[in-house]
Amino acid sequence: MIEIQDLTVRFGGVTSLNQMSVHFESGTCGLIGPNGAGKTTFFNVLSGFVRPSSGSVRAFGDDLLAIVHYRRARWGLRRTFQTEQAIEELSVFQNVALVHEHGGQAAKSRRADVLDAMSFVGLDADPEAKVGTLGVGQRRLVEVARAVVGRPKLVLLDEPAAGLPDVETSALAEVIRQIPARTGALTILVDHDMSLVSACCETTAVLDFGELIASGPTAQVLRDERVMRAYLGTAEVA
Ligand SMILES: Nc1ncnc2c1ncn2[C@@H]1O[C@H](COP(=O)(O)OP(=O)(O)O)[C@@H](O)[C@H]1O
Ligand SMILES: [Mg+2]
Repeated sequence: MIEIQDLTVRFGGVTSLNQMSVHFESGTCGLIGPNGAGKTTFFNVLSGFVRPSSGSVRAFGDDLLAIVHYRRARWGLRRTFQTEQAIEELSVFQNVALVHEHGGQAAKSRRADVLDAMSFVGLDADPEAKVGTLGVGQRRLVEVARAVVGRPKLVLLDEPAAGLPDVETSALAEVIRQIPARTGALTILVDHDMSLVSACCETTAVLDFGELIASGPTAQVLRDERVMRAYLGTAEVA
């Protein structure tokens, strides 16, 4: 369980998160909100790129903000980014193995763990192929494989389905749904695709202008009037 208490982030005059308090219990949890709502900032706080001006994060009993950012991977934090992080000149295997190594996992299980992560996400590319030679869909799966390899405790997915065709999004949904059961990690999914969020997440939290405006069972949250209003111009979210 992740317990967020009164989390505030300011950049100069901009308040990107304003006293956000919420619990992410277990399984795959959604985090939605219009552009600029603070979703990526929240992930940046968890992964240590951004220091909040106040607030606390307890993750499975640990004070996450007290762990220096480069040790958080070792602790079990994994994330994907809105922009690809895989290194084009390296092979698929090397890209996933790098995260395994940084995550402090035993070298002797590395090969098996990397191949297992590739197979779990449905990546059927040659492990020795350079990432730069892969198509968009496969590259996205490399990013997800990097987020689930080894023994993650907390997996943060930042718009993993953006720009993917529907068929590939459905396949990805199936993978995302299975991450908690397969790896034991609590997973937080940020995405604009409400059908993906509905398919993957039993519970969802909603940010708008840095404020938490709703959280609870996904279907209920998507019907919430404040949530619908936050998505300007849309009569309904899903
Ligand atoms: N490093 C930064 N410096 C200044 N402002 C930032 C920075 N990161 C985010 N912001 C601002 O914080 C707000 C939330 O951004 P972000 O978390 O990226 O939103 P989302 O991911 O929900 O689209 C935006 O107004 C954005 O411009
Ligand atoms: Mg973002």
